[in-house]
Amino acid sequence: MKPIGLHTINNEAYLHHYRLADLAQTYQTPLYVMDEAQIRKAIQEFKIYFKSEAFDTTVVYASKAFFTKEFARLIAEEGLYMDAVSLGDLYVAQQAHFPFERLVFHGNNKSIEELDFAISHQVGYIVVDNLYELNHLAQLINRKQKKISILIRVNPGIDAHTHEYIQTAQFTSKFGESIFDEHQMKSLLEVCLASPWIELKGFHAHIGSQIHEPDAYVEEIKKMVEFQNHISRQYQLDLPILNLGGGFGIQYQQEEKNIAIPEMMRILIQALEVAIQTTHSAIRQVMIEPGRAIVGPAGITLYKASQIKTTFGQKNYLFIDGGMTDNIRPALYHAVYECDIANKMTQPKEILVDIVGKCCESGDIIRKDVMIPRIDENDIVIVYATGAYNYSMSSNYNHLLKPAVILVGEEIRVLSRRETLDDLCKLF
Ligand code: LLP
Repeated sequence: MKPIGLHTINNEAYLHHYRLADLAQTYQTPLYVMDEAQIRKAIQEFKIYFKSEAFDTTVVYASKAFFTKEFARLIAEEGLYMDAVSLGDLYVAQQAHFPFERLVFHGNNKSIEELDFAISHQVGYIVVDNLYELNHLAQLINRKQKKISILIRVNPGIDAHTHEYIQTAQFTSKFGESIFDEHQMKSLLEVCLASPWIELKGFHAHIGSQIHEPDAYVEEIKKMVEFQNHISRQYQLDLPILNLGGGFGIQYQQEEKNIAIPEMMRILIQALEVAIQTTHSAIRQVMIEPGRAIVGPAGITLYKASQIKTTFGQKNYLFIDGGMTDNIRPALYHAVYECDIANKMTQPKEILVDIVGKCCESGDIIRKDVMIPRIDENDIVIVYATGAYNYSMSSNYNHLLKPAVILVGEEIRVLSRRETLDDLCKLF
């Protein structure tokens, strides 16, 4: 999927009025480029279509998909909530002056230090993963005597068809407590009820990532509304908030089936309205947490090509100046990316290659078996749909430098500068 600002003039790729080859030259490669218009469009779609007359709706941007200080400011300016999953996330959010009342703090193993920071800075919600954590939170909050709103993360047991590493809601998942584990629920509820400082607002579930089937969400909604109603009645509790998590899939390849944000949101809203109204549920606010769908399609990565190496076994490798350090997803999830040559957009594709990086790993493949035009040294390779979980999962393996990230809008903003060799020695 290409960002909306991408177009071709005379065989050359442009993002809005910037020639990609020029950007590569100015900011060096590899380079992450984000299309601001595409990001704002996705955010608008969530804001417009995730709306109901029957309940309030809240869009929480899942920052793990892509997060820098400047980007947190954009999210704040758009009026979205944002999640955080570590002390590092909380700290960067604080440095960005992100309003903490709009933060949702996640994590399956939050440390005391993290909980303390979250409470001291009054995050909007803590999503409690388990009893062990809840006990720590209760002790801390009882000492501090500050009110905190929490949601409890539960696992509704839904098999969303996605890669096993990004499934989260089977019965063996490490996240949350099962909605079918009554004993565990009772223990959790007892801790909440015993503390005057803990305000249990509802439940949270997240059924996985890169999900294209609305059915999985409809099932999640039915199960979660029913579950929340049940707990609310059993314990005589007002539980106004339901958080459905994120996971909305994007199109990495043209032939991949995909459901656009407006359509997916319409289905969710309809299922929620039916479930909430027919069960006379007390749920008054529903949250969703999209990450990938907001930033994924907006991002592209630019690399410089060096040569095509043909092995004795007649395999062609196109070597590029980045690799698994800036995009671990093909190695980790067998993700498949589409690509082009920025300065040869309309040239015939004649050679079958694997596009590979420069790391000391045979698995350092960015794209397997792809047809490309004839290559000259310093041609610029574009890899599409890299806006989510590329920069945020990048590493310094082999001491490669993390690329810069630029946001292309009316003007260009550097969201993260390119690392320098000195950065590599900061820690030792
Ligand atoms: N909410 C929770 C609690 C999550 O754990 C996640 C993602 C999201 C929301 C956002 O999901 P999204 O809308 O972005 O799919 N590194 C993997 C994805 C891991 C997702 C982790 N949690 C990848 O590159 O595909």
